[in-house]
Parts: sequence; C-alpha cells; structure tokens
Amino acid sequence: MKIEVTHESKGNIQTVIYPYLKDQWRANIQILESEYGLSAKVLDPLLDQDGTKLVIENDRNRKIIFLGLSEGVLPGKIRTDTIHAVRKNAGSFSFPILLDLRSLQDHRIIFEIINGLCLSSYHLGMYKSEDSPIDRRLKKSHAVVLLGNEQNEKVKSIIQEAQALAIAQKNTMDLVNGAGNLIHANALSKKAKKLSESFKSVSVKIFDKKKIKQLGLGCLLAVNQGSQWPPVFILLEYKPAHPKKSGLKKLGLAGKGITFDTGGLSIKPSANLHYMKSDLGGGAAVLGVVEAAARLEIPVSIVAAIPVTDNCIDAASFKPGDVIQSYLGKTIEIINTDAEGRLILADALSFLVKNHKPDVLIDLATLTGSCVQTFGYHCAGLFSNDQELSDQLVKAGLESGEKVWPLPMWAEYDEMLQSDIADIKNLSNKPVAGAISAAKFLQAFVLNHPSWAHLDIAGVALKENSFGNDKVASAFGVRLIIDFMQKYLVR
Ligand code: BES
Ligand code: ZN
Ligand code: ZN
Repeated sequence: MKIEVTHESKGNIQTVIYPYLKDQWRANIQILESEYGLSAKVLDPLLDQDGTKLVIENDRNRKIIFLGLSEGVLPGKIRTDTIHAVRKNAGSFSFPILLDLRSLQDHRIIFEIINGLCLSSYHLGMYKSEDSPIDRRLKKSHAVVLLGNEQNEKVKSIIQEAQALAIAQKNTMDLVNGAGNLIHANALSKKAKKLSESFKSVSVKIFDKKKIKQLGLGCLLAVNQGSQWPPVFILLEYKPAHPKKSGLKKLGLAGKGITFDTGGLSIKPSANLHYMKSDLGGGAAVLGVVEAAARLEIPVSIVAAIPVTDNCIDAASFKPGDVIQSYLGKTIEIINTDAEGRLILADALSFLVKNHKPDVLIDLATLTGSCVQTFGYHCAGLFSNDQELSDQLVKAGLESGEKVWPLPMWAEYDEMLQSDIADIKNLSNKPVAGAISAAKFLQAFVLNHPSWAHLDIAGVALKENSFGNDKVASAFGVRLIIDFMQKYLVR
C-alpha cells in the first residue's frame, strides 16, 4: 500500500480510519465535530463503548472507521485490529483512505497501526486466475496519513520503518503460504540471492548438493534422500554499513527450511497434512529478519544459515533404524523420520558455531506438535541456556506481540535421547515432553555455545486471521527478532 504523509487535512477523502485512545476519547471531539461533522451527541454513546471498531457514516457522506484502543492494549492486538478493519471493509472503501493520526502521540502505537495498514494489503490469492475483488481493490490502494502539526520527523521515520518491516514480513508470508509443489529449495535460494542483489549489506552463499556432501552436512543429506529435488544450504551474511562500535558484534540465526513435511517413512496422518507446506516457517522468518535488518540498517551483523529440503517418501528415503553422521561428527540413530527438523537444524547450528562464531545464536523452527499442545496458537516455545537472553526474548515478545515463553532445559531430559548404538537418537521412546526433548537434541549440536536460544514456532507460523478462511502465514519471528536486536543488541 502506498502511503503519503501530510500535515494538511484533505476534505475530499471519503474513507477515514480514526484510531484513538478510548480513555481519552473526549479529547477527540473537537476534531471530529469540526472536521468530520460528527456531533458530541452522536459520538457520546459510541466512542466510550468497549469493542474496537465502529463504522458510521456522517452527514458529509464519509465512512469513518473508529479504532478504539484501550490503555495498555497489546501491540499485536493493535496490528491485527488494524488489519481486520481494513480487510473487512475494503470492499466498500473508496481509496485513498485517510488515516488520521492526529490524536495519537505514542510512537509504538503509531508503528503498529502503520505496520498493520501495510500488512492489510497482503495479496493472498497468489495462484488465483483472477484477483478477488478485495485483492483487486487493495492492490492499487493508497493511504494518506494525516499528522498533527506537532508530530515531527521522528513520526515520519517511524512510519517508514513500519512500512519497511511490512515488506520483509510479506515476503516471509509468501514463502510460507506458497504451495508445497511450487516452493522447492530453489525458491528460497532465489529469494536469498535477490536479497544480496538488492542490498549491498547482504551477501549470500548457496551450497548445492555437491558442496553439501563435501562439507559433510550429513543430516541434511539424510532428510533429502527421499526427495525429488536437491537440497540447498543457504548462508547469508548481513554487514551493516555503519556497525555499532562497542558491545555485541554478531547475531547467528538458523531457520528450519522444510518445504513440505510428509513425515517421511514415519508418515503423518492425512488430517491437516496440507499445513505442512508451512514447515519452512523458521527459514522464511530468518530470510525476513535479514531483509528487515538490511532495510532498517540495523547496526549489528547477522550470519544466517537455512538448510532446505522437503521430507518425502521414496525407496531411497532414510528409514527409522538408520544411523547417520552429522556435520559435527556425532552419529544419530533415527527413531522417527518425522523428527527431521532437529536433524537439519543440528547441522546448521554446528556449522554456524564452528565457522562463524556468533556472539548470540538463535534458531527458529516449526519443530514439534508438542509445543502446539503446550502453548496453543498464541505463543512460541523458548528454550535457552542463557537466562539473560531468555529474559530479553520474553520481553521483546510481549512488547512486539510475538510472544515466546520459556520451558526448562534441565539435564534430566538428556536421558531421553540416549541411544544404545549411536551418540544420540532423534526421538525419545516416551511420548512426553516432546518440545523439550527436541530442544535438548539441538543443544547437543551447539558446541556448548554460551548464549543460544531455540524458538519452537510450530503453533504460530500459521494463524487464523482476517486474511483468509483457512490458516495463513503470520511471519512470526521477523518482528520479534528485529525488536530484540533493536532493544538489546543495539545499545
Ligand atoms: N513439522 C513437524 C512439527 C509441526 C507440527 C509443525 C504441527 C507445525 C504443526 C515436525 O517435523 C514433526 O513432525 N514433529 C513431530 C515429531 C514426532 C516424530 C514426535 C511432532 O511433533 O509430531
Ligand atoms: Zn516432521
Ligand atoms: Zn517438520
């Protein structure tokens, strides 16, 4: 969505979005009376009501959408309410729409509203022969953001940042919403290459199957055995033009890039299997973080690894009972081929620690159904060996609306993964604490890195929301990691 920022009210615009703080709604009455012809009598019973959106037509034939915000409302809610307000009403909007921000001072709220507004124009019907009426309207849509005279340059830069972030989020969403038969490993490498072509600060190496063999990324090769398509291992580096002088230098990121997870020979049941096209959600989020960091010129370096393949069924597939050798050299007994994400991530994590020595290491993965059982769809699982990092991620999550919550990593859980014949096995015999034992498996491959966190985003990478009828990609992780970097790494 194209956004134009102005300080002058434009009288001819027919559709207005008017966000306001519910507790202070009376302060808005003067604007609403003089500018929008709404009398206090009409407004009184409306604006202090609970419920966030109200649509009323005024005597000047304008449609006004009120976005009522409560004090302390969570940022994620502001974002989704804004998206909802636009998508629900886009059919009857006349564009451009006016977003009147004059009553808002809080920069965080303004950021969320603009980010939501930009995300609302996301084009979901990517494979439709003809755009749906809503998509058609939103495609060329255009918003005019009206600021008060005292709202300065800072607000304008916040608007630009929220827009830049949304572009990266939408690119992540495209990969996760994309169909499994059309998004192969090469789709991710193409995106990664495009990033390096678009931004001087980003460089990319794509390891093909030959190179993957040479390097000994044995877990990625094993998972890829049943695939019709070769694997890739994407290595991205972001080096800011103006790095920060002191403190932490480099963030390491790893993202699970399973383009479709059938479960392999330990095949999954067919109910909800189509959602497994989203099993690259972690890898897509990592691409989104790198893009957002480049767009926002965040002054901290990133090194990111994304191992990519599908997990399919074939005579050549790896099998339960197989023993494979990881990049680190540890041997792994395969108990279940559906626990494939931890395998490819193990290689990516060891590769990063061994060759790139990141100061902080974070991985994102749609890793376990167990995590969905634990947290549902509102929160990702957080596992870390560094209390400070864990606390920072929890805070960044609460503040950004992409919530994460810690689960324990006590040594007792290591026993679950002891193999009789190999160094470790990829699944516990006991069907309990599945998200924790998956995290413990990964921990065996981070070479005692002192500051590592694993985010299990299985429940949050896809969400029910106002974009569509079925679950749709959320780009979970992009916003969280960017916020984390801005709050805790840029100091
Ligand atoms: N990709 C799945 C995890 C998943 C489940 C993601 C639901 C999104 C929604 C992962 O590879 C997997 O299959 N995990 C298994 C492990 C099992 C073998 C114990 C699981 O959690 O069911
Ligand atoms: Zn699986
Ligand atoms: Zn998987």
